[in-house]
Amino acid sequence: MSHHERDSIKNVIKVSLLVCLVCALVVAGAAVTLAPKQVENRERFRQVNILRAAGMYEPGIDVAEAFGRVERRFVDFSTGDYVEMPDSYDPLSAARDAELGLRLQDDPAGIRSMARVGEVFVARGDDGRVSRIVLPVHGYGLWSTMYGFLALEADLDTVSGLRFFEHAETPGLGGEVDNPRWQAQWNGKRLFDEDGEFALEVLKGRVPEGATDAQHKVDGLSGATITTRGVDNLVRFWMGEQAYGPFLARLRQEIGNESQG
Ligand SMILES: Cc1cc2nc3c(=O)[nH]c(=O)nc-3n(C[C@H](O)[C@H](O)[C@H](O)COP(=O)(O)O)c2cc1C
Repeated sequence: MSHHERDSIKNVIKVSLLVCLVCALVVAGAAVTLAPKQVENRERFRQVNILRAAGMYEPGIDVAEAFGRVERRFVDFSTGDYVEMPDSYDPLSAARDAELGLRLQDDPAGIRSMARVGEVFVARGDDGRVSRIVLPVHGYGLWSTMYGFLALEADLDTVSGLRFFEHAETPGLGGEVDNPRWQAQWNGKRLFDEDGEFALEVLKGRVPEGATDAQHKVDGLSGATITTRGVDNLVRFWMGEQAYGPFLARLRQEIGNESQG
């Protein structure tokens, strides 16, 4: 074969196509074989964040085992009742569904629509009593929808933790929602005042030294007022009447009866 023939257009195309085919197979193969691993990792990351919000996480623990103490339940937002749903049910997909979702008129969290049925995570202590309730929350910041978990203690008032596991706010500004020092401030804050009214507020700026209502106030993120407003709005929305409000009222009664009985 002469040099000329080997470099013919036909051969160049043939070799190019072959290289393309081999590369495509490698990439497609990787995508297919790694997809379950990605789903698994994402689910594990969600579980870690649920445990973190609930104060049940320490580095090195067996996540699956710790998560075994957490029960996933489904809640009808309109009544606050537990309902049965298939394991595969996903409230975030349901939000966009014509029947399973609900378009929001009053939409402070900037999410446009929400599922009619949500999920909650109930952790129990060794005595079998409810120790933490972890509630998925999400809402718009400056650039992105922030997805997280708000965990409450059994009084359904004291915050045990807030963690976001997905957002695209600016690192160093809105991205400081991931700063452990800011997150730590949420521990022990109270959602409601003595009259049972929602009272928690994420301030613009710092909580003043010696503020009498400091139990209801969280420092804002400096240079990120819009993200800060977003967090304030989403917590208010999800703890309110349109979202987990009826469920919290119901559960408060239930836990009250449980501890009497
Ligand atoms: C590149 C860039 C990224 C920004 N990222 C954020 C952000 O993630 N969250 C936020 O609230 N503000 C962000 N800002 C600032 C907002 O544009 C706005 O100025 C700010 O929220 C006002 O808050 P301040 O009163 O605390 O300065 C960003 C600004 C720039 C120029």
